[in-house]
Amino acid sequence: MARRKKIYEGKAKILYEGPEPGTLVQYFKDDATAFNAEKRAVIEGKGVLNNRLSEFFMTGLGQIGIPTHFIRRLNMREQLIRQVEIIPLEIIVRNVAAGSMAKRLGIEEGTQLPRPIVEFSYKDDALGDPLVPEEYIIAFGWASQQDMDDIVSLALRVNDWMSGVMYGVGIKLVDFKIEVGRVWDNEFPRLLLADEISPDSCRLWDIETGQKLDKDVFRRDLGNLTDAYTEVAKRLGVMPSNVTHRPKPTLIN
Ligand SMILES: Nc1ncnc2c1ncn2[C@@H]1O[C@H](COP(=O)(O)OP(=O)(O)OP(=O)(O)O)[C@@H](O)[C@H]1O
Ligand SMILES: [Mg+2]
Repeated sequence: MARRKKIYEGKAKILYEGPEPGTLVQYFKDDATAFNAEKRAVIEGKGVLNNRLSEFFMTGLGQIGIPTHFIRRLNMREQLIRQVEIIPLEIIVRNVAAGSMAKRLGIEEGTQLPRPIVEFSYKDDALGDPLVPEEYIIAFGWASQQDMDDIVSLALRVNDWMSGVMYGVGIKLVDFKIEVGRVWDNEFPRLLLADEISPDSCRLWDIETGQKLDKDVFRRDLGNLTDAYTEVAKRLGVMPSNVTHRPKPTLIN
């Protein structure tokens, strides 16, 4: 088989040309990075878990009518997606103060916010993905006012669904980041939820114990990241099938 063309290699994923025009294959690596890639490690099994978990979240969101780039999972580490023009923003929704927000405003981490807050940072690694106001986004033409209105309402719907699903398995959705892209259907632009939704891009705290079950485990050296992600996958009933697979015994009469 001819080698697939690599389109892009990022910190956590690789994009390959897909089997049909307008499609890509998204490969989930085991690489973990934090603090704008100053801290790095290879964490065995992370890619497999994130592929599964992102499939789970994107499929569920698709079922409540949120358009996503996800087409289908291909194997343990790869999924087929629709190619989009990524809007160069990280769209962050926060329910509880944590991370950069807690630091910036001097709010104690864990403080419930008065309502979900949506914020944007400009995707530019060299600049450290700076926080930007909507005014900049529109002025610089990264997205239109209509796009921004649609993005905020999409982000809040994602937040409501994700919060409910996680609450159901005893996990608090503290905050998360999404990316959105544009596709063209007969000259009409449409926005799709893209990239990934996984414990790499969310903050997830156990409701009972406050235990962190997300990438902060890696950022802050709190233990084994694969164990934390496996716990999330287990609770959601999304365990990777053949990781613990053993052939079934055959009954002989
Ligand atoms: N459906 C899609 N079509 C095109 N590009 C996509 C799609 N979904 C995600 N992407 C892009 O693919 C890349 C995924 O790789 P990864 O997440 O490893 O990147 P990264 O290291 O975080 O870098 P960055 O996001 O800053 O480019 C990201 O650039 C993301 O914006
Ligand atoms: Mg990324």
